[in-house]
Amino acid sequence: MGDLWLVLRKFASNARSVATLAPSSRFLARAAVRGIDWSRTTCVVELGAGTGPITAELVNAAPPDVRLIINEFDPDFCRVLRQKFPGTDIFEGDARRLGEVLAERGITRVDYAISGLPLTHFSPADRDAVIDQVGQVLSPDGEFRQLTTAPWLYRRLYRRYFRDVSFKLVVRNFPPGGVYSCRGWIPPGDRPAG
Ligand SMILES: C[S@@+](CC[C@H](N)C(=O)[O-])C[C@H]1O[C@@H](n2cnc3c(N)ncnc32)[C@H](O)[C@@H]1O
Repeated sequence: MGDLWLVLRKFASNARSVATLAPSSRFLARAAVRGIDWSRTTCVVELGAGTGPITAELVNAAPPDVRLIINEFDPDFCRVLRQKFPGTDIFEGDARRLGEVLAERGITRVDYAISGLPLTHFSPADRDAVIDQVGQVLSPDGEFRQLTTAPWLYRRLYRRYFRDVSFKLVVRNFPPGGVYSCRGWIPPGDRPAG
């Protein structure tokens, strides 16, 4: 109840950036992490972690030598994340600073980036900034995963940024949602306008 209440309170005060009435269900959280090839993974970034349902799955599944970088900009959510996942690298701040934060840590390659950010509520410039910072560090066979509670609706949007976009539906979530899996980042110069 604690996490649900906190998300509801945050939604009431800042609906655009929280963009959900409840934390992701464990079904959605598992779908976000399912299929990660841990044998070839050295670094995973999570953006917009909230109260940490995806983080919990990552922390449980990741082998000890895999680097996890967890991002969230709300200080109350960050407090919850630090309590639940002591010792985890939590970057408290705006996801638009991702490139800088990875550089400070000497990270030049990320294998998976999992985003719960409400990217469709971002301005196009801010959305480009986040996705392109991910794209620049994503390994050639790396994957960007975006959670959504608007199944299929934004496939075209993510196709602007990635050559290969697929969608996994998760019905057992409130509301029903899913995960976009995106591979093959398209640099801005090679992208169709719009
Ligand atoms: C839809 S919630 C998802 C929370 C969590 N991942 C989950 O699945 O329950 C979006 C989260 O992104 C965070 N957020 C929104 N804009 C952000 C930004 N620019 N940088 C970092 N976090 C942001 C919000 O504070 C919120 O916790």
